[in-house]
Amino acid sequence: MSAARVLVVGGGGREHALAWALGRSPLVGEVLVAPGNAGTVPAVRMPDPDDVDAFADAARDRAVDLVVIGPEAPLVAGLADACRARGLLVYGPDAAAARLEASKVDAKAFMLRHGVPTAAARRCDDVSSALAALTELGAPIVVKRSGLAGGKGVTVAESTRAAEAAVHEAFAAGEDAVLLEERLVGQEVSLLLVCDGRDAVPLRLAQDYKQAEDGDLGPMTGGMGTVAPVDLLDAAAQADVMRSIVRPTLDGLRAEGTPFVGTLFIGLMLTERGPLVLEYNVRFGDPETQALLPLLESDLFELLRDAARGTLGTRALRWRAGACACVVMAAPGYPGSPRTGTPLDVPGDLGADVLVFHAGTRLEGGRLVSAGGRVLNVVGLGNDMAQAVARAYGAVERIGFDDAHYRRDIGSRLAQP
Ligand SMILES: Nc1ncnc2c1ncn2[C@@H]1O[C@H](COP(=O)(O)OP(=O)(O)O)[C@@H](O)[C@H]1O
Ligand SMILES: [Mg+2]
Repeated sequence: MSAARVLVVGGGGREHALAWALGRSPLVGEVLVAPGNAGTVPAVRMPDPDDVDAFADAARDRAVDLVVIGPEAPLVAGLADACRARGLLVYGPDAAAARLEASKVDAKAFMLRHGVPTAAARRCDDVSSALAALTELGAPIVVKRSGLAGGKGVTVAESTRAAEAAVHEAFAAGEDAVLLEERLVGQEVSLLLVCDGRDAVPLRLAQDYKQAEDGDLGPMTGGMGTVAPVDLLDAAAQADVMRSIVRPTLDGLRAEGTPFVGTLFIGLMLTERGPLVLEYNVRFGDPETQALLPLLESDLFELLRDAARGTLGTRALRWRAGACACVVMAAPGYPGSPRTGTPLDVPGDLGADVLVFHAGTRLEGGRLVSAGGRVLNVVGLGNDMAQAVARAYGAVERIGFDDAHYRRDIGSRLAQP
């Protein structure tokens, strides 16, 4: 493969970070991003990735050497299958393996079948059985919509009344099933693994800030910031997670005829009973990726290409020392009804230890404006977390974005475990 052409599918901060990291590989000649955003220009005109056959035809016509699929929706819709059917090399799971994210009900049943440690849960298929179960189980309790909800389908309910409201809302929104799950207590970590169907190479651990407001208050969002690495699991505990959680997951998928090629993202809660799985995602996290890839010194293209080929084996990745923090600048009103079209001014001289990955941005008559809920990912690198966080916030203050909404406490949880 000489000077590879890579196609990154998606248009958020994750995809901008992927395109940036792939573009640094000496093996890569060209990175196309579809649909991309103003940070990934030149974006290419392609069909909507959820229109999987049309998109896969276009990818084949562009003779790309590797397709890297960012978001969950096209994976669940079968974009990886459609691309593979056309002979393309693809990093991302087939639809059958993507069910681990597409259905929380299926994922929970999978974990039970394969002995993966997770919270106890009950599946309810209609409002009346869910309400009856709530009366029996009481609060606190976690209500989870089964299907994809953009990170906004889970309610950690302190009262039965709040849980009942979440149940009504879920079924009113057309949900087929909910899980009523035992409420766990502990620190959360995101474990991302690059998988080739058989083996998995773990990335450093990351920690996400999901609620809209400081102190983990306010509504759930797609993610307001991330830090990496977090040292909440020592080497022995990480080996334990590989043995008791990652291995049975990958082996279970293979045994069920749906080997997993792509990024397996395991949301873990570190409880008194040990690490328990909160959920699986079947793709790179957003914004975890924006804080992980700047630390990665190994060649990302080589890694994803080998995973796509099924030749990953066991390998150790090289990481830059120090830490990385990503602060999301969102539109005012996010996550409810974000206001778009705000002019953005991103200075060109933010420094060598700062990166800005675009999410909801576009060019309007040559001017950069906001075009979505999450708009910019401002990333700081440092010798330690305090320095990384300070650099990210230093850059946030220099960016012109009227009424931007962002959290001021990204990274603070690590100071007070
Ligand atoms: N069993 C649980 N106990 C306590 N908190 C939970 C539990 N399950 C989920 N949560 C909280 O809700 C968040 C979202 O749940 P998750 O299962 O990751 O679904 P999604 O990311 O699809 O919204 C988690 O990051 C965690 O903070
Ligand atoms: Mg989650």
